Amino acid sequence: MEKISVLFVCLGNICRSPAAEAIFKHLINDKGISDKFIVDSAGTGSWHIGKKADSRMRFAAKQRNINITSNARQIKDDDFLKFKYILVMDNSNFKNVIDLKNRVKGSDFAKIIKIQDFASVFNDKEVPDPYFGGDDGFDYVLDILEDSVSCFLENIT
Ligand code: 4NP
Repeated sequence: MEKISVLFVCLGNICRSPAAEAIFKHLINDKGISDKFIVDSAGTGSWHIGKKADSRMRFAAKQRNINITSNARQIKDDDFLKFKYILVMDNSNFKNVIDLKNRVKGSDFAKIIKIQDFASVFNDKEVPDPYFGGDDGFDYVLDILEDSVSCFLENIT
């Protein structure tokens, strides 16, 4: 059976999208359905390529038993041919990713969706960027992602 491919995207790929990727992997692992999925994350920006996720986000996730192990990479043309679901964190990511997609032939396969469109508990229309804020911003991002990412999984399975 063809795997379901999911790519989470933010700006730097060191805070929000690695957290979303790790939460999603944690959920499908708990459900015993990991083998049905290809899951990854990427950033629209290039500043942090190759770096581990922000230590503040890794620490906050670890408190919830979620391990963030990814290294940052930038979104690339091929992602629009490989990933069926490209889930972005905010309106700026949405616009940038749509612009990139429109330049790639055959990219109709990819659906670009804001992850907060799936939220059920939190009203935020975007996942706020925690990078320049305090430590509680990382917990809040994890709170809203745990809601929207689990609702996304329910929606597609
Ligand atoms: P992210 O957060 O998009 O959630 O990974 C950011 C990380 C770094 C920067 C901006 C946002 N930065 O400007 O370096």
